[in-house]
This record gives sequence, structure tokens and C-alpha cells, in this order.
Amino acid sequence: MSEQVHGNDQAIISVENLEHSYGEFKAVDGISFTVKKGEIFSFLGPNGAGKSTVINILITLLAKQKGNASVAGYDVTNDAQKVRESIGIVFQDITLDRDMTVWEILEFHGRLYNMPREERKKRIDELLTLVQLDAKKDERTKNLSGGMKRRLEIARGLMTRPKVLFLDEPTIGLDPQTRMRMWEYIKGVNNEGTTIFLTTHYMDEADQLSDRISIIDQGKIIISGTSWQLKNTLGRDIIYLETSNNDAAVRLLQDLPSVHNVKTKTKGFVLMVTEDGTKVLPVIIDTLRNAGIDSTTINLKKPSMDDVFVFYTGKDLRDEPAGKPVVILKKTWRAMR
Ligand SMILES: Nc1ncnc2c1ncn2[C@@H]1O[C@H](COP(=O)(O)OP(=O)(O)OP(=O)(O)O)[C@@H](O)[C@H]1O
Ligand SMILES: [Mg+2]
Repeated sequence: MSEQVHGNDQAIISVENLEHSYGEFKAVDGISFTVKKGEIFSFLGPNGAGKSTVINILITLLAKQKGNASVAGYDVTNDAQKVRESIGIVFQDITLDRDMTVWEILEFHGRLYNMPREERKKRIDELLTLVQLDAKKDERTKNLSGGMKRRLEIARGLMTRPKVLFLDEPTIGLDPQTRMRMWEYIKGVNNEGTTIFLTTHYMDEADQLSDRISIIDQGKIIISGTSWQLKNTLGRDIIYLETSNNDAAVRLLQDLPSVHNVKTKTKGFVLMVTEDGTKVLPVIIDTLRNAGIDSTTINLKKPSMDDVFVFYTGKDLRDEPAGKPVVILKKTWRAMR
């Protein structure tokens, strides 16, 4: 079986100008990206962003309408069977057979993929421990709790070592310890050579796991890069201030050379600075003091993935679209794509 990777031979997933509509509604609106062989790549986006729609096209579950998409060198439309042979999937929705036991689900999956008996047994033992379902191995899946079903679903997805593993919000609804254990295991699978395409709306998950992240919102990629690159576009440090006169303070501080962005908040405002915040802070405090403005709250921190997300989408990851933030841009920067 020869692989027909065209163009960039490092790309294991290649998507160009992908569009997808449900009736009149355009859920995916011209998305292009590549995932390199061996990467952990994440789509980070809020509910309804179009993450599952893209995944479902890539795993050939949803027919492609417009654009190009290939996985492991195979076109998702013309070589759908080859694509399916190259991938593993953990679905967002639970798809377990209710009457099978935990062990049967894993055993059946291993047989389906022609895993040798010894390997099957070893992998099942390892995964049951990972997802902590050893004690439930003979339980029918209908009698498992929601979180246990989720863990079994993941274990099934991790039975084989496909070229590309698709994980659609794999850790949704799991407790923090279990999520972290999953991350470690996913990294281990990746180290064994499997490329991982992940969707999530957990900032920390995208941050911890991914080699590269694309932030997706309303069917479009807003920005892509490594976690470090994304955070770096916001500046070196972030300073939050509450003062006796925020409007006047903003007017004064936005002209300081190291301040490249100012954003007003309910009770204060945020300055994004291009230099070490501990060096800029005394200047800020002096400037305010000289103008007779008191600082009541001061907070200095490094940009986080949350800050990146809020900055580029103008909303936090809860459902409500928070009102458009007041953003004063002093410099423009090119979004890395
Ligand atoms: N079968 C469908 N019929 C009609 N609309 C759909 C269908 N599937 C998805 N949509 C709509 O398309 C948009 C994108 O949905 P999608 O499931 O791709 O989002 P998502 O990013 O995976 O969200 P979530 O984080 O909630 O899983 C949403 O507005 C959704 O309501
Ligand atoms: Mg989804």
C-alpha cells in the first residue's frame, strides 16, 4: 500500500478552503490548515464553532461539500475507505453498545482491527488501568456512570495505533485528575508516532497538549500558532489596574512606548506591554501619581491561553457573546497562519 502524499510531504492532514452548510447556515466558512506528521494539533473554539463539523468531514462521516481535504495522503471524498483505514476516532457523543461489557467493547474493537491476541490483551489491561475501569471490566456499559462511559469510549479509541487519531473533545465531563491522566497517555500515544488532531474548548487542554493550535470561531480560523506564539502576540506581560480615574489613566498610559494595547474592563483596564512588566510598572505608577490618580488594584501576569482567546474572539468561553470589548490598538500585528 503506497502512500500518495502530494506537495508538502510533512503534511498528514491537509485542508483547503473547506466550507460546510447545514441548509442555509454556514457552519464552516472557508477553513484552511495543515497538520504535520507527528504533531498534536488542536482546534480550540466555543460551542458551535464548527469543530465537530470539520472532524466529521475529515473522518468521512460527513460528505464534503466544498474545498479540499486529505488525510494520510488520501482524499476524503475519492479515497474514503483508505482514509478510514488510516485513522482512529474518539467521538464527542457516546457510541457504545449498551449490552456489551467493558471488556467485550475493547476486545471486539481489537479484533476488528486485527490486533494479535497478545497485543490485545496487553493493551486492554493497560487501558483499563489508565481509565480506572479494572473493577468494572465485566459490567455492561449501560450500567456505567456518564464519566465511566466517556472513559471507556476513550480507551476504545486508544486500542489501536492509527496514523492519525481524531479526538473530539475527549475529556469533556471528566474530573481533573482523570483529564490529566488522559493527557499523559495521549502524549505517550503521540510519542509512539501517531499524529493527533484534537478539538477542545478547554484552554488548558489545548495549551498543555498541543504542538500547534488554531483558534476557531463561527466557522473561521482566527489565528494559528504554537501556544508560545499565540501568547506572545499579546505582548510580554499583562498589567491589570483599577484607579481613582480609569478614563484619565487610560488616556495617559496608552501613549507609553512599552504599552501596545489597552482594553477597558468593568472596574479597571488591562495594559498589554512589550517589555518586562516589573520594569514598566514603576513608570506606570509614577505617571499616574504625577497626574494625581490613585491606583487601587494592580496585577501583573503573563498572557494565558484564556487571554489569547478573549482577545481574538472578543468573548470568553461561556456561551454568551460578551459585548464587544473596547480595544485601542496602537500597533497592528500580522496574524500567524
Ligand atoms: N446536523 C446539523 N444540522 C443543522 N445544524 C447543525 C448540524 N450539526 C451542526 N450544526 C450547527 O453547525 C454549527 C457548528 O456545529 P459543530 O457541531 O461543528 O460545532 P462544535 O464546534 O463542534 O461545537 P461544540 O463545542 O458544542 O461541540 C452549530 O451552529 C450547530 O448548531
Ligand atoms: Mg463538537
